[in-house]
Amino acid sequence: MGDPHPKLEAHALTRTFGRAAKAVHALGPVDLKIAPGEFTCVVGPSGCGKSTLLRIAAGILRPSGGKLTIRTRAQRPAAMIFQDYGIYDWKTVQANVRFGLDIQRVPREEADARATHWLSRMGLADFADAYPAALSGGMRQRVAIARALAVEPEILLMDEPFAALDAQLRTILQDELLALTQATRTTTLFITHSLEEAIVLGDRVLVMSARPGRVIAERRPPFTRPRTGEVRATGEFTALKSELWQLLRDEVGTEAAA
Ligand SMILES: Nc1ncnc2c1ncn2[C@@H]1O[C@H](COP(=O)(O)OP(=O)(O)OP(=O)(O)O)[C@@H](O)[C@H]1O
Ligand SMILES: [Mg+2]
Repeated sequence: MGDPHPKLEAHALTRTFGRAAKAVHALGPVDLKIAPGEFTCVVGPSGCGKSTLLRIAAGILRPSGGKLTIRTRAQRPAAMIFQDYGIYDWKTVQANVRFGLDIQRVPREEADARATHWLSRMGLADFADAYPAALSGGMRQRVAIARALAVEPEILLMDEPFAALDAQLRTILQDELLALTQATRTTTLFITHSLEEAIVLGDRVLVMSARPGRVIAERRPPFTRPRTGEVRATGEFTALKSELWQLLRDEVGTEAAA
């Protein structure tokens, strides 16, 4: 057996925004353990605290209560892809992708080589010297993905990374991410609105309740690894999708009625 310790562990995690009468209880309590190499997907109604959970995991937001622990070796950081990209308009595409490596003080030549590699895997080789303003929404999103993957993070935190892509490209990048994470066994926490995406990619799919988001269900897509996008065509896939949709629809309904 591998490392028995979870890479990421949350215990009684909560987050509230604002004070007193205006306080919004956004998240939790959430208990969560993610094993090394595990790909965990989270689905849940809009506003239930998914991005809040990811921002806490990324260390850019503090919990109000409880605790979230990440175990990484020092040099290899957790990398986050923000829902709204978080790329810099004043840096070239190449410099954006190199950014995380610059922070890690990776030597310039190696950093450029890795950035070039990930840009070409994302189909952006011709745009290395362009500025983000010259890119489409989907291309900007691919820059953000390339930047996160270039640092070869120990834990990958992804917040709806494919949301702005058209259906074809989304499918292609899902399959690419599937192959990649199966090869690297990168521990991943992946937020998505797409049940298909969660089922194709995830070892586990967690369903969150309406705000304050708690984990109300967990399903394991019944596909062995390595798997490919072909699982989309199976009966098990369709059955799990409708089961998850049922769970989610109940929560969206709760929210609308509240
Ligand atoms: N910085 C903040 N200040 C105040 N309220 C916030 C802040 N960030 C999030 N919230 C509130 O916390 C709740 C959860 O927000 P969050 O962005 O985590 O939801 P989400 O599940 O990611 O939604 P979506 O699916 O739409 O991206 C929302 O009610 C939101 O308004
Ligand atoms: Mg969000």
